[in-house]
Amino acid sequence: MEFTPPPYSLNSLKQIHRALFSQVYSWAGEVRFSAISKDETRFCSPERIAPEAAREFTKMGAVGWFEGYSRTDLVVAVAESYGTLNVVHPFREGNGRTQRILFEWLIVNAGYSINWELVDSEEWVNANIRSYLGDDGWLAHIFDRCIGEPITESEAL
Ligand SMILES: Nc1ncnc2c1ncn2[C@@H]1O[C@H](COP(=O)(O)OP(=O)(O)OP(=O)(O)O)[C@@H](O)[C@H]1O
Ligand SMILES: [Mg+2]
Repeated sequence: MEFTPPPYSLNSLKQIHRALFSQVYSWAGEVRFSAISKDETRFCSPERIAPEAAREFTKMGAVGWFEGYSRTDLVVAVAESYGTLNVVHPFREGNGRTQRILFEWLIVNAGYSINWELVDSEEWVNANIRSYLGDDGWLAHIFDRCIGEPITESEAL
């Protein structure tokens, strides 16, 4: 998918979801209206999806979408926001793929590259569970590995 700059919102996630899954799900791009859980994790109740997403996107907008952050600060901020939006889990299925595209845009917009291939799905899911339980450190550890060095002007050209 083509990079899209901020501002981002729940609508951005819906657009990404629709682009990814419109051939697969009739409800692609639509927020779920039933409760869902995975293992011990109970995701956001349907009526809280819009307000909780708005709260997190407002927070990211208020800090300028992490633009100008040092790599260290970016890693921590992105881990926290990723974990929060994962718990919002707007869609019945496809949340991981949708959210990773949005975070790729956020990270690239902040001036860094991201390589998701440096994490496997077991470690990733575990880190998301830890985040749900209140510790974003595991996600931060993964982002520290997957986020590259600042993109230089010559690379961007
Ligand atoms: N037990 C759990 N607790 C919290 N978050 C979880 C748990 N299991 C998975 N996740 C998160 O949910 C995502 C999977 O959600 P979903 O199945 O809706 O999307 P997906 O696109 O099919 O996922 P993926 O491509 O990441 O496997 C994972 O990427 C992870 O971030
Ligand atoms: Mg899935």
